[in-house]
Order: sequence, then structure tokens, then C-alpha cells
Amino acid sequence: MWSSRWLFVLAAAGSAVGLGNIWKFPYITGENGGGAFVLIYLICVAFVGIPIMMAEVMIGREGRQSPINTMRALVQQHHRSPAWVLIGWMGVLAGFLILSYYTVIAGWALYYILQMAQGTFDGATGAVAESTFNDFLSDPWRLVFWQTLFMVMTVWIIARGVIKGLESAIRWFMPLLFVLLIVLLGYAVTTDGFQQGWDFMFAFHWEDVSGQTVLVAMGQAFFTLSLGMGAIMAYGAYVPSNASITSTVSIIAILDTLVAVAAGLAIFPIVFANGLEPGQGPGLMFVTIPLAFGQMPLGALFGTLFFLLVSFAAITSAISISEPALAYLVETYNAKRGRVAITLGVISWVLGLGTVFSFNIWADRHVVGDLTFFDFVDYVSQNVMLPLGGMLIALFGAWALPKTVIGSQLGLQEGWVNVVWKVVCGVIAPLGVLVVFVATVIG
Ligand code: PFF
Repeated sequence: MWSSRWLFVLAAAGSAVGLGNIWKFPYITGENGGGAFVLIYLICVAFVGIPIMMAEVMIGREGRQSPINTMRALVQQHHRSPAWVLIGWMGVLAGFLILSYYTVIAGWALYYILQMAQGTFDGATGAVAESTFNDFLSDPWRLVFWQTLFMVMTVWIIARGVIKGLESAIRWFMPLLFVLLIVLLGYAVTTDGFQQGWDFMFAFHWEDVSGQTVLVAMGQAFFTLSLGMGAIMAYGAYVPSNASITSTVSIIAILDTLVAVAAGLAIFPIVFANGLEPGQGPGLMFVTIPLAFGQMPLGALFGTLFFLLVSFAAITSAISISEPALAYLVETYNAKRGRVAITLGVISWVLGLGTVFSFNIWADRHVVGDLTFFDFVDYVSQNVMLPLGGMLIALFGAWALPKTVIGSQLGLQEGWVNVVWKVVCGVIAPLGVLVVFVATVIG
């Protein structure tokens, strides 16, 4: 059990705030044309993300085990179809896929700690920042080295048990990360790209919206809030019974959204001020941020600190990605935490090699359409598996659990609460996901 409601907020925020906010949100906003994407993303967080996060915490706290065993216990207890347990299994699979590439990108952040510290970017131009990154990507050995280092750190932490490490990491690093984002934001405001960056993020153009934009925005909402694969359900299993789910979840979602928007506002002005491309893809953050710090006094110091904090944010997310599988194996087979952690780590590491090679020796190999291995794993996990898992979780949380359970979990017994819950979590959220899927297939 978390020792308090606040510890759960810290842990869940640690899971939510990660590469998804600082690396992914800006680059997919760039690839999807900006404003329209941001607005749809915010709508998805509010109407789909928050209810589903509440459902995950509620189900986790009701079952008090790993997601797979929680689902097993709840379907037995309430006489529901065992098919619901698929939610747990799909989450474990999605976790492997996500962890495999997450560790690769987090490895890039580790490498950039070193680069910033060495002053590689002091006074650098956009072209230098771009070529430094491209040279790095073209060398599979260096990528594997940093991927391995990050994986070893992750496995080491999860093998030792997460609670102590998590608490101190998040209590200190999260506020610091905020401060550094504000420093970057302050710098971005002074560049002459600020207005353009602002407009890019907040000017809405209908013509930019397609089924694809909406699907990617929704996938991002799931990814950034760690939803749809049981990570929050697994953490929810340790939440004290008297904590309020509604307020706790709202705090986590707001915090997560603030970090993403701040990252975007820090990055896009620098893109425009330096004549860079907003849609350049996964390298966006690794080019713009070093560039910005390179122009500032004490930039090497702040830049080092920044990538250090990004790496911490990534590690507190990475450990939550593996928690559903880890908790299941430990609980069911009474296996040693350390051994399980190493096994999971090795499997994800091998899968991750596919992502490493997608940026160099396999860059021209396409798994389907024009998707590289990385694109494919990322697309399927984020845009298909997480939303699908989330939709099922919402349906289960609204319709398969008895009214008494919902009432006591949400802390209010009045009839109207149950009605609101059924409408929001049982209809709006799952219907939203369904409509987006259908729209993408048609459109
Ligand atoms: N929410 C994390 C991020 O934004 O970086 C990524 C993530 C963590 C996704 C945990 C899924 C998950 F279960």
C-alpha cells in the first residue's frame, strides 16, 4: 500500500509525466500540423482520459492485485464473462512493446546529458545541432550502448521494489523539471519565433483535421496518461481505501497536461526562430533543446540538468510500464522479483533492437506501408492497443461492476452519481474511442 494518497499522486504522476510529454507530444504535434491536434488532444484528455483513469484506479483498488489477477477475481466475484481478463493480457503485451522503444529513446536522453556537459552545443547553429543528432542516430552501436544502460537502470530499480526510490525521485525531480521548463519557456518568449510558435500550437484550422489526426491525438492522450494497459490499475491496487479517486485523478491529469503544453511552448518558438522544421519527427526535442541551451549563459549546466531530469522522468515511467507483468508473475508464481525483472528486461531489450535499427541499418525496411519497425510498434501500441484496452476498461468499470461497488469506490452513494458515472465512463468515453476508430478506418 502507498503510505498516503499523496504518494499515489506522486507515483501516478511519475508514471504519466515522461517522454510522452517532453519528447513525443511536441514532435507529433509538429507532424500533425499543430493547433487542431492540440485541441483534439485536450478534449480527449478531458472526456476520455480522465474517466478511464478513474475506472483504472477504481478497478485496481477493488481487486487489489496485478491487473490480470484483479480482472480474474472481479469476474468471478460478480459472475461476469472470463473474456474480460483479456484486458490484463493485452496490457502486458502492450507494455512489452512500449518498454522496448521507450528505453531506446530514454537512452538518447542519457547520451545528451553527456553531450551537454561536454559543451558540444555551446554557441552551436541549427545545422550543427541537427548533424550531431543525425550522426548519433546513424551509429547502431552507440544507440545500443545507451539503450542497454537505461534498461539496466530500470531493471535494477524494479528489482529492488519501487516505492522508496519513486518517492524521493518524484518529490524532488518533478518540481525541478518544472522550473527548467519555465527557464526554457522564458528563453522561448525572447526569441522572434515565439508568436509563430504560439500560433502553431493554438491556432485551430479545420482543414488540418483528418481521421488520422484524431486517432493520433487520442492515442497520445492514452499514452501520456499511462492508460489502457493496466499500469495505473496496478498502481491503483495500492491506493488507500479512503483516498478520493476523482480529485486524485484530476490532479494527475492536470499536472501531466501542463508539462506537455509547457514543453510544446518551449520547443516550437525555437523551431521557428532557427528555421527548423516542426514536422521533423522523433529528433525534434534533441535538436531544439540543445540549440536553445547552447545560446544561453550557463547553458551547458542547465542543459545537463535538463536531460538529467528528462531521464528521471523517463525512468519513473518505465518502471510503471513493466509493473503489470512483473506484479502478475511475482504474485502468481511466487517468483523472485529480481529474476522476473531481469527476464522482462531481456525480452524488451531484444525487441528494442528493432527500434534501434529503424534509425540506421533498417531505416529503409518497412513493416507495413511506409512504417519502419519503430513506427509500427509505436503505432500499434499507442494508437490501437491502448485505446482498445481503455475502451474495455471503461465498459467494465461502468457496466460490469455492481452499483454498490461503484458507489463505495467513488465515495458517494447518491443515485445521480451512478447515473453520471454510467453516462461519462460507460457511454461517452468508450463511444469516443469507437467513433475515432471508425472515422480513421473510413477516412
Ligand atoms: N505516460 C508515459 C509518458 O508519457 O512518457 C508513458 C507510459 C507509461 C505509457 C506507462 C504507458 C504506461 F503504462
